[in-house]
Amino acid sequence: MTAPLPTTPPPGFRVWALPGIPEVRPGDDLVKLIAAAATADELPGLADGDVLLVTSKIVSKAEGRIVEAADRQAAIDAEAVRVVARRGELRIVENRLGLVMAAAGVDASNTAAGTILLLPEDPDASARALRAGLRDALGVDVGIIVTDTFGRPWRSGLTDVAIGAAGVRVLDDLRGGVDSHGNPLNVTVVATADELAAAGDLVKGKASGLPVAVVRGLPHVVAPGDGGSDLGARALVRNAADDMFRLGTSEAVREAVTLRRTVREFTDAPVDPGAVRRAVAAAVTAPAPHHTTPWRFVLLESESSRVELLDAMRDAWIADLRGDGFSEESIAKRVRRGDVLRKAPYLVVPCLVADGSHTYPDARRNAAEREMFVVAAGAGVQNFLVALAGERLGSAWVSSTMFCRDVVRSVLSLPENWDPMGAVAVGHAAAPPRERPARDASEFFSVR
Ligand SMILES: Cc1cc2nc3c(=O)[nH]c(=O)nc-3n(C[C@H](O)[C@H](O)[C@H](O)COP(=O)(O)O)c2cc1C
Repeated sequence: MTAPLPTTPPPGFRVWALPGIPEVRPGDDLVKLIAAAATADELPGLADGDVLLVTSKIVSKAEGRIVEAADRQAAIDAEAVRVVARRGELRIVENRLGLVMAAAGVDASNTAAGTILLLPEDPDASARALRAGLRDALGVDVGIIVTDTFGRPWRSGLTDVAIGAAGVRVLDDLRGGVDSHGNPLNVTVVATADELAAAGDLVKGKASGLPVAVVRGLPHVVAPGDGGSDLGARALVRNAADDMFRLGTSEAVREAVTLRRTVREFTDAPVDPGAVRRAVAAAVTAPAPHHTTPWRFVLLESESSRVELLDAMRDAWIADLRGDGFSEESIAKRVRRGDVLRKAPYLVVPCLVADGSHTYPDARRNAAEREMFVVAAGAGVQNFLVALAGERLGSAWVSSTMFCRDVVRSVLSLPENWDPMGAVAVGHAAAPPRERPARDASEFFSVR
C-alpha cells in the first residue's frame, strides 16, 4: 500500500550560485553587478524572501579594502584587538569586529599578487547597503549575508559563516519551546545565518569565481522591512566574558599565572569548597626536595574556627608589639591592617612539614636544607593561588601565622612539626585588582 501524499510539501530550499560576476575592483557598484548577474536569462531572478550569500572578498574589493602585501603583519596588528592563540606564525585573534579568526581575516588569497585584503570596515553596514540597493534596483525584499571562511575549534575543515547581515533573522531562539518529545529547550539558539552561509558555500566554492549564491524557499528567515530588530551578524559574536574558551590552551596556561593577583576585598559570596580542594590538588604537584611532599593545607571552613584563630593571633601580635614598646594607639592602627583575613569568607593556613629532610653535622648545610623545604612550600602555595585564580577565586597570602606558630598550632590542634607558612584569604574579588604595568624581564635576569 502506498502512503497518502502529504497535503503540504516537506520542507526544502534551493540554492544556486550567480555566474557572470566579473573580477571586482575598488569603486565597483556591487548592487549593479549582483542585480545584473541575478537577472540573467537562464536564472530564476530574485524574489521577496530570497537570501543572498555574498563573499566578503568582493565587498572588501568594492570598498577598496586592499593594502600592499608588505604590510601583512602590520595589517593584522591593526585589525586585532586581542591574541586568542598563537602557534608559530599563525595567530588566531579577535578583530575589531569581535570576530575570532586566523590572521584577523587579513587575506592574501583571492587578490592580486603583492596585495592583501582586509575585511569590510563594517560588514553589517555593507549588507544593509546591498539590501537597500537591490530593493531600489529590482523592487525585491531580500536578506543579505556577507560571508567569510572560518576554521573552528574541535572541528577539522573550514566553513563559511556570516560576518555581516541585513534583513535576516540571524539567530533562531528556540529557548522556552519544547522538542518533539515535549522536552523543554533550554539552550537551543540556532545560528541560522551561519547555516545559510554554509549552504551558499556549497555552490560558490572557493576557486570557481562564483562569489554570490541565492537561497530560495526559506522566507521565514528574512525579516521584512528595516525594523530596529535587525541585529546584523554582530549578534552572532559570543561575548568574550561569556566564552568558556576565551583563550587557546597555551595562552590560558600562561594567563593563569598572571591572573593571580593579591585580592584584599571580597564579596559575601561563599567559596565553593570543591574549588579549594581542586586547588590543593594542584598545589601538591609542586617541586620538592628528595621526593618529599612537604605541603599541608588547613581549611578553615567554619566561621568559629576562623574567628578563634584570628582573635588568638591578634592577641599574640599585640603582645609582640607591646614588647617592642609601641604605644597603644600605634598598636591599634597596626592591628587594624590585619583586617584582610577577618573580612575574607574563607581562610586557608598552608603548612610546611619537613618530613624526609636531611640532617647535617654543620649549621650551614642544615640552614640550606631548611631553605630548600621553605622554597618548596612557597612553590606549593603559589600553585595553590594560581589554581584558585583559575577557579575565579581571589586570594591574599599574608604572613601572619608565621610570626605566632605556637599559637596557631595550639588553636588549630596541629602537630608540632607542622609549620604554618602564613594564611591565605580566599573569596570572590569585590573589584578587579589594580592594573600593574608589566615588569621588564630584562631587569630580573642576567646572562652568563
Ligand atoms: C610570603 C608573603 C607574605 C605576605 N604577607 C602579606 C601581608 O602580611 N599582608 C599583605 O597585605 N600582603 C602580604 N603579601 C602579599 C604581597 O603584598 C603581594 O603579593 C604584593 O603586593 C604583590 O601584589 P600581587 O600579589 O597582586 O602581585 C605577602 C606575600 C608573600 C609572598
